[in-house]
Amino acid sequence: VNIILLGPPGAGKGTQAKRLVEERNMVQLSTGDMLREARSSGTEMGKRVAEVMDKGGLVTDEIVIGLIEEKITGNAGGGFIFDGFPRTLPQADALAQLLDKTGQRLNAVVEMQVDDAALVARITGRYTCGSCGEVYHDQIRPTKVAGTCDACGGTTMVRRADDNEDSLKHRLMEYYKKTSPLIGYYYAKGQLSTVDGLAEMDTVAAAIAKVLDKS
Ligand code: AP5
Ligand code: ZN
Repeated sequence: VNIILLGPPGAGKGTQAKRLVEERNMVQLSTGDMLREARSSGTEMGKRVAEVMDKGGLVTDEIVIGLIEEKITGNAGGGFIFDGFPRTLPQADALAQLLDKTGQRLNAVVEMQVDDAALVARITGRYTCGSCGEVYHDQIRPTKVAGTCDACGGTTMVRRADDNEDSLKHRLMEYYKKTSPLIGYYYAKGQLSTVDGLAEMDTVAAAIAKVLDKS
């Protein structure tokens, strides 16, 4: 099955995607991770997008569609999880075309609903393992041993440059303006399921599992 995890910054898309990779051998396609990778490897494209990302704006459709296009013909494992893509109507149309062209289909779109106050708390407390990308939180999900990743034992923890209140405000605005129209778009196609993203991580995971099992 191929699914989209749709939701504002901090909704828990990355956290749930990582679980689906573990539990169902699915393949996570996070455009945010791809863009961060391009930045850290210093490619021309990476340099161009760095400033936009740090301020919390959206990178051009052309760039992110290109990134997805590169991956969509690769190994799909137990199915693709589109995490943070599509984020605009043109991206959604492009995804439909790419899936069509490669003989695949979209099985479900999971909208993760979380209110803004919770998003601010989640984003400002987030850190990730620099080695394996496991996601943590200062209060809600700290590493068992401070500074050491539970998953891989790595000892470099990183915080994102766009995880500050100013950039987050901008990211939220972009979400409501440009991405939230996708809720209506997928609802009209009969593909939308909604889960309560405010619930505990295990509860959210169970709700997503239910959607996957019936699609
Ligand atoms: P991206 O990397 O996609 O960031 P985002 O959408 O802002 O989402 P986040 O990664 O911040 O949040 P998440 O939903 O994954 O939450 P997480 O699981 O980490 O994009 C970054 C930037 O790249 C964009 O701003 C844009 O510039 C660019 N970009 C990317 N894709 C693009 C596209 N398609 N088009 C254009 N530009 C694009 O959880 C957050 C925290 O909450 C963690 O600390 C976690 O431990 C905690 N948490 C998770 N679940 C729960 C729970 N149930 N209860 C309590 N705490 C929880
Ligand atoms: Zn790790």
